[in-house]
Amino acid sequence: MKYINKSFSIEKVKAQNLAKKFATPIYCYSYKQLKKNINNFKQNFKSFSPLVCFAVKANANVNLIREIGKLGLGADVVSIGELMKALKAGINPKKIVFSGVGKTKTEISYAIDKKILLLNAESKSEIIEIEKIAKSKNKIINIGIRLNPNTDAKTLSKISTGKKENKFGVDEKVFFELIKYSKNSKNISLKCLSVHIGSQIVDNVPYEKMLNVVDRIIRKANYEFEFIDLGGGMGISYDNNGKKLNYKKYNISIKKFLKNHNSKIIFEPGRSIVGNAGVLITKIIYIKKNEKKDFIILDAAMNDLMRPAIYGAKHRTLPALKTNLFSKKIYEFVGPICESTDKFITLKKFQKLKEKDLIIMCDVGAYGMSLSSNYNVRPKPIEILIKGSKINVIKKRQKLKDLI
Ligand code: LLP
Repeated sequence: MKYINKSFSIEKVKAQNLAKKFATPIYCYSYKQLKKNINNFKQNFKSFSPLVCFAVKANANVNLIREIGKLGLGADVVSIGELMKALKAGINPKKIVFSGVGKTKTEISYAIDKKILLLNAESKSEIIEIEKIAKSKNKIINIGIRLNPNTDAKTLSKISTGKKENKFGVDEKVFFELIKYSKNSKNISLKCLSVHIGSQIVDNVPYEKMLNVVDRIIRKANYEFEFIDLGGGMGISYDNNGKKLNYKKYNISIKKFLKNHNSKIIFEPGRSIVGNAGVLITKIIYIKKNEKKDFIILDAAMNDLMRPAIYGAKHRTLPALKTNLFSKKIYEFVGPICESTDKFITLKKFQKLKEKDLIIMCDVGAYGMSLSSNYNVRPKPIEILIKGSKINVIKKRQKLKDLI
């Protein structure tokens, strides 16, 4: 994604042309960037060839998942809906893991019937439920247990999951108890230890701490796990020179860990696969002048892109057409929704804007469309995947009539 002749382009397609053809707002993805992210990810850890399961929650577009699958990834799902989408996208069930603290009977039963690789259980009650269902189907089911390593991911508190006060996983004591329980069960086979300490992690230290905890616990348990699922969480840079995770260092830590453990590593990355592969193209409806600032009222709102409203996230905001004229006013980019949190970003320096200009919000490929809602009865945007100069509509814009 770059400017071609001052016009923001996704591969060879100008955002401006997309807006003309499909109206706005548009979620637009670059296949080239997606492929690059996947290949980079694999390359970084190639010495131990992990199973990489894309966290579908980051982007649940079936057609995008299909491309991700074709590029070699499996899927990490957290609901029957996500599992159905992954299967529909052609992901091999043997490359699917199912996480989450509240899997229902229906979900467990469906996952068992589809013969997925692992159900990563998060409580004793869940294991008992899986066991019951497995018994009724006369099957032995492979499970993982999610350990809560009590490790601070040093990320936003709202997306941190690995501390003991979080609802995720089980603590050390329960973990040992569950190993014992599984050993004695005829219908479950414990294959995996899983952990996931949070999202948008840019510091290697939490991962190192997590690996140390896992190492210590496995030694103490004296149990050989076929798989160790290290979850996702790899942070990306949301501004041009922001910090992102150092993969080389993470790779070294894991290699060191594997010297003592003969297990296959599973990863569940979401953001690092799709985050920077997507942009949101939106149009200025009105500019409302205020004494101190101008409100740039866009046709995209918090229902389309929730991250700024719920996490205070800042997405790089760019003009679709570059000029060299700068505004003297402070610009506050907002949506039309009746909430004060419907605000994307406030910028002191920006080029001069006028009504109907197009604005690009960057790095919205992960947790953009997947977190969107129909709040204020607003139809969800169209999704487009660009491959070179080819435009593929991978999901149509929702129709008002479907909402009413
Ligand atoms: N595995 C599990 C068990 C998870 O809970 C998550 C994310 C992932 C993998 C993928 O993590 P990633 O590689 O994408 O960091 N909505 C928030 C992020 C929530 C993440 C929830 N769990 C945001 O927009 O920043």
